[in-house]
Amino acid sequence: MTDDLNRLRQDTEQALAAAADMAGLEAVRVAVLGRNGRLTALLKGLGAVPAEQRKERGGALNLLKDEVAALIEARKAVLESHALDARLKAERVDVTLPARPSPEGLIHPISRTIEELVQIFGAQGFSVAEGPDIEDDWKNFTALNIPEDHPARQEHDTFYLPRRLPGGPQQGTRMVLRTHTSPVQIRAMLGSKPPLRVICPGRTYRSDHDATHSPMFHQVEGLVIDRDITMAHLKGCLVDFLRAYFGVEDLPVRFRPSFFPFTEPSAEVDIGCSRKDGQLVIGAGQDWLEILGCGMVHPRVLAAGGIDPNEWQGFAFGMGLERITMLKYGLPDLRPFFESDIRWLRHYGFAALDAASLATGIA
Ligand code: DAH
Repeated sequence: MTDDLNRLRQDTEQALAAAADMAGLEAVRVAVLGRNGRLTALLKGLGAVPAEQRKERGGALNLLKDEVAALIEARKAVLESHALDARLKAERVDVTLPARPSPEGLIHPISRTIEELVQIFGAQGFSVAEGPDIEDDWKNFTALNIPEDHPARQEHDTFYLPRRLPGGPQQGTRMVLRTHTSPVQIRAMLGSKPPLRVICPGRTYRSDHDATHSPMFHQVEGLVIDRDITMAHLKGCLVDFLRAYFGVEDLPVRFRPSFFPFTEPSAEVDIGCSRKDGQLVIGAGQDWLEILGCGMVHPRVLAAGGIDPNEWQGFAFGMGLERITMLKYGLPDLRPFFESDIRWLRHYGFAALDAASLATGIA
C-alpha cells in the first residue's frame, strides 16, 4: 500500500477511535466514503493515474474501501453496545418503589370472597385443595353416597359429557361438569392420608338460569377428618367463619336438621337477619337466612375415599359463593357477576392491592 493510502487508513482509524457516538461515526464515514470523502476523491482520481499503475492502484483503493467499511462496522458495534449499557444503567427499575395503584385492574367480588375464605379458614389451619371442573360421575355422585337411581342426579340438572371421549374414563363412568365441589372431598381423601383439613373453592355447573341461578357458579367445600372430630367442632368452625366473614361479632347462627346423602347427621345453617324498609340487614333480627349445608361425613363416603370409618371421622360443609357474596354486599341479581359489564365491575370490584387479610379486616 502506498504511503498516502496508509496515512488515510491510519487517520481513519484514529478518527473512528475518537468518534464517541453514532453522529461522530457518521461524520467519519462521510469524510472518508461520502461523495466528497477522501477515499472517494482518490477513486475518482483513478482515471488520471498512468495506465500501467492503474490496475494496482485500483485494487489497493478497493481493498482499502472494504477495510474502512469493516472498521466503521466494528466501531458501530462497540458504540451500540456502549449505548445499550448506558441505557440499561439509566433505566434501571427500582423494585423497592411502592406500586402505583391502577384504577383499571380490579378484583372480581367472587375472587375477593375466595381470598377472604382462604384467610379465615387458613387461620383455622385449613389448606386449599383443588379438583377439575370436568369430573367423573363416580366422584361427583357415587362415592358421595348418591346411588345411580337417586333423584339428586336429575335434581342437580347435571351437564353430562358425551359417553365416549378420546382418552375418557373406563366403562361404567361418565364425565360430568361437576355439580358441586363435594367431589374434591373424595380427591382429598384419596390423595393424602388423614388427618385432613381442607377447603375447596371452585367453579360448579348446573343447567339452571335465572336471577339467582347461573349455569356456572362457585362453591366452597370444607372437609375435616381426624380421630375425634365431633359435631361440636363443626359448629365452632362454622360459627367462627360466619361471624368473621359477615363482620358481625354476635351474629346469630342456627343449625337445622336436614338431609344430604354424604353426611349423617346433616344440618342446614341459617344466620340471623332483619329487613328494614325492604333492606336486608345481617345480624340479630326477627328473620333467618339459609347459608350452607353441612354434616358429619357419612361412613360410606369415608370408605369410598379409602379411609377406615372405624378409625376416623369428620365433618364437611358446602356453600355457594355467589350467594354469600350477594348477601354481604346487598346484590339483588346474580347474572351481572358473569356478564363482564365494566361498569358493574368498576362499582363492585376491589382494588388490586387492597388484599383481604385478617389483620386489616375482612368485612
Ligand atoms: N354439595 C351440596 C350442594 O351442592 C352442599 C353440601 C351440603 C356440601 C352438605 C357438603 C355438605 O359437604 O356436608 O348442595
